[in-house]
Amino acid sequence: MKKTLAAALMATIGLAGVSVAESHMSEDDLKKAVNARQATMQLYAFNLGILGNMAKGTTDYDADAASAAAGNLVKLSTQNQMAYWAPGTAEGQIEGSKALPAIWEDMAGVGAAATAMTEAAMAMEAAAGTDLASLQGAMGALGGACGGCHKSYRASSN
Ligand code: HEC
Repeated sequence: MKKTLAAALMATIGLAGVSVAESHMSEDDLKKAVNARQATMQLYAFNLGILGNMAKGTTDYDADAASAAAGNLVKLSTQNQMAYWAPGTAEGQIEGSKALPAIWEDMAGVGAAATAMTEAAMAMEAAAGTDLASLQGAMGALGGACGGCHKSYRASSN
């Protein structure tokens, strides 16, 4: 009886411990990694919102502000984010994460989704400062690149 419990505990702790060992990061540091990527996502959303509001006409078109927001999206998406996506930080492995385990099983797919966003952001950077019509023309691909990754790799919000 005692042996069975010990074995069960070992299995549980062992499972939880694998990812931490893999990433050589403490639980606290893993949580910081989650915070770092979610902060990046918030910055994506903030800058996309500036562009989206202009595209919709909620705010007046401003070439400089649009260029700045698009440039920020390029810079943010070309950060090396490897450490933000440390193994052991999938949904269910750590509190607050909505990152699906598929991310760690399909690195090529995530990489392609990330590249698609960078390319859309670069296209937006080229278009945003030109005029409102160009900004609007680049909006669909950019928003689609966010949504494309979320569809496959982010748990739907509850
Ligand atoms: C390569 C994949 C990928 C791309 C591209 C991407 N996201 Fe995300 N996003 C995710 C994942 C995965 C999560 C869940 C992260 C977590 O909970 O740890 C997320 C979470 C978020 C969140 C919630 C952040 C929080 O505080 O919990 C927002 C907002 C967001 N993304 C906005 C965007 C916007 C806007 C874009 C495009 C400009 C974008 N994302 C592009 C994968 C992506």
